[in-house]
Amino acid sequence: MFEKYEFHHIGYAVKSIEETAKFFLFLGYTITKTVIDPIQRVHIAFLLKEHTPCIELVQPIDDESPVVSILQKNGVTPYHICYEVEDINEAISEMRKQKFIPLFNPVPALAFDNRLICYFFNKNVGLIELLNK
Ligand code: NI
Repeated sequence: MFEKYEFHHIGYAVKSIEETAKFFLFLGYTITKTVIDPIQRVHIAFLLKEHTPCIELVQPIDDESPVVSILQKNGVTPYHICYEVEDINEAISEMRKQKFIPLFNPVPALAFDNRLICYFFNKNVGLIELLNK
């Protein structure tokens, strides 16, 4: 069962992709893709470096974005880990059994060619994102 959950990326809440990316560029990452997602109301950039996990920088595009409250509470911070799954609906019922609460029904994510994503919360783990393969 566990091999079905493949690590995909770490999500960082940022105030400015440009300002935060400077550090990762210094470390040798490259920005591979930037996208505006109108559903999550965020601007997203993906950073890649060989042999290291993908990092996703997530910047709110307005005050309605769910990322705003994370920035207000914690400042710039990593805030979710994303795993890829074969069947997001099956994974949702498995995650519920692990006491995760889905934050919304799966929605298409522009950053991933409209593949479905869903966010989950568990008080002992925090936020987990699932991305349908
Ligand atoms: Ni993400």
